[in-house]
Amino acid sequence: MHTITLIPGDGIGPEVTNAVVRILEATGVKFHWESFAAGAEAYEKYKEYLPQELLASIERNRVALKGPITTPIGTGFSSANVALRKKFELFANFRPIRNLPGVPTRYPGVDLIIVRENTEGLYSGIEHEVVPGVVESLKIITEKASTRIARFAFEYSRREKRKKIFAIHKANIMKLSDGLFLRCARNVSKEYPEITYGEHIVYNTCMQLVMNPYQYDVLLLENLYGDIISDLCAAFVGGLGLVPGANLGTECAIFEAVHGSAPDIAGKNIANPTALLQSSVLMLRHIGETNAAERVQAALERVYQSKEKLTRDIGGTASTTEFADAVIAAMSVATATS
Ligand code: NAI
Repeated sequence: MHTITLIPGDGIGPEVTNAVVRILEATGVKFHWESFAAGAEAYEKYKEYLPQELLASIERNRVALKGPITTPIGTGFSSANVALRKKFELFANFRPIRNLPGVPTRYPGVDLIIVRENTEGLYSGIEHEVVPGVVESLKIITEKASTRIARFAFEYSRREKRKKIFAIHKANIMKLSDGLFLRCARNVSKEYPEITYGEHIVYNTCMQLVMNPYQYDVLLLENLYGDIISDLCAAFVGGLGLVPGANLGTECAIFEAVHGSAPDIAGKNIANPTALLQSSVLMLRHIGETNAAERVQAALERVYQSKEKLTRDIGGTASTTEFADAVIAAMSVATATS
């Protein structure tokens, strides 16, 4: 039995989370879900964006599955997502970008890994108004966090036999902050001679990616560049509805999709749960349920191959619920025939 903290989130969060939980339950693995509200919904109930019970649950279970949480733009509370990553020192944001069968894209056969620093940079949220009409936002880069994320990228690459890491930066302009990030990456790279190490400036990276994404293997980025580039890369494989993510620390891990709460389609039962489902496959591997992970991934790919029950974002007509039913059915067919 695995006890997992569940954060359904808001917007399309509860719809995609519900679909994923049903699929995970159908694997036969035993889960006990501890479910909590977060963000605006939690604030209404408890006057806290991240309730103490939720934080205690993650601390206890060390693994959470999370739907998206809306962050108000320009005003209001700061991001509950960023706060969670900071609170549990989930320093590595890990996003594999791979095509699913049957999803037409401009770029078949993409296999990119995005490793994003998750705790500092411009996301430190240290902003203030100097005088009316002038604000200051501080970008924090530390040797400790930069070395830690570089080491994560190199260790992952060594383990998974990836060949090449590119650190992405703007050290031509931000000489001190991005300069430090690069220095740390270079230092760590010396310990991994079997992995080719390179550096590209972020604007050039955007162009290079669109021209030829196959030239990259693992991308190592500080927080903001990682945020932007991972959405760009999501488009290579069919969009935000598909790409999974994991926030990893030394103690805890939170698995969540790359996409947000998609208010434009919330409550209509049309959101694609694939991104969260693929995140949950990363979670299954993390908790040692490799067999279930492989079965869910295979069932998902079968549903994509058959093209009959796809959601609207990738040209189908199926609802969120129908898509989840199809994955469950594909899993039981596979189990019966294996
Ligand atoms: P978004 O990712 O929610 O939506 C962007 C576009 O992609 C929309 O057209 C949406 O309909 C579509 N889309 C996203 N996920 C989809 C899915 N599963 N199936 C089908 N279509 C999907 O980005 P947006 O609109 O910028 O952000 C909305 C809110 O979400 C904001 O408050 C933002 O702060 C928050 N957010 C939360 C994240 C998290 O909880 N980790 C991550 C990103 C954004």
